[in-house]
Amino acid sequence: MKPRVLVTLRIFPEVLAQLREHFEVEANDASVDWSRDEIIRRAQGRQGLFVTTVEPIDATLVAACPELRAVCSMAVGYNNIDVAACAARGITVTNAPDVLTETTADFGFALMMAAARRVCESEHFLRAGRWERWSYDFFCGADVHGTTLGILGMGRIGQAIARRGALGFGMRVIYHNRTRLAPGIEAPLGARWVDKDTLLREADHLVLVVPYSKASHHTIGAAEIALMKPTATLTNVARGGVLDDAALAQALAERRIAAAALDVFDGEPQVHPGLLAVPNVVLTPHIASATAATRLKMATLAADNLIAILGGRPALTPVRPRT
Ligand code: DGY
Repeated sequence: MKPRVLVTLRIFPEVLAQLREHFEVEANDASVDWSRDEIIRRAQGRQGLFVTTVEPIDATLVAACPELRAVCSMAVGYNNIDVAACAARGITVTNAPDVLTETTADFGFALMMAAARRVCESEHFLRAGRWERWSYDFFCGADVHGTTLGILGMGRIGQAIARRGALGFGMRVIYHNRTRLAPGIEAPLGARWVDKDTLLREADHLVLVVPYSKASHHTIGAAEIALMKPTATLTNVARGGVLDDAALAQALAERRIAAAALDVFDGEPQVHPGLLAVPNVVLTPHIASATAATRLKMATLAADNLIAILGGRPALTPVRPRT
């Protein structure tokens, strides 16, 4: 008998077809999210779950699904999965690293540039029919080239953003990370490890790429924003919870920093009303990895992981519980 797999959100038909060759599949092909309770109910009696960034795969689900052996996510971030609870029950968890790195870095850099050069704010102004004349101080923003790029979380995506800044735009790169990178990685980027306060004080453009965990919850809040330059921009392509959106909205309204750009939000798809009310923030709906080619690679990797694990082979990209 084929192993039984649940696919919790709509995915590419070709990936579903690939899964159906190996498994008996139940898939959510509607555009309505299943509730937590519904996922738990449907996951019972299944050996594998194909998930993304939003489904809570927690200890309750693990306890309710004694046959579960694999939880495979098509996202790189896995803060929605209780990896320790899975590991304790011998369930293998996988994510989708590498395949989205460059695509996500492109978008992070684009958001940072859009915030610095006021691309969206000026476009909204034009579309509203408010453009009457040219003027010397019309939508002046901040330069990106030759400035200081600050990166919080220098993993694969952080390094890819640093590469764009250093090699493409002549930026000085500073970063803060739990562990300092090897000199062989720092040197080609001219990247310098600094403590968090120095990062906040010196960056002209700060980009958040740090994974979400209890330890990184609201790692940037009012006190941290207060350290930033009034001309600085702040971009978040990590997870909503790493940034205190309410504190940012207030800082933007009071022009304590120049601008921000956010692809992820605390409590998304809800967006803090204060952010919707200020002009100097670019807001996008969690699409940093969204190119058709990359999303297909992410989904295929999750499917390949399920096929490997439930076929008795090692996972391609396992996630280990944090120590
Ligand atoms: C990820 O992979 O974690 C992204 O946030 C989803 O696009």
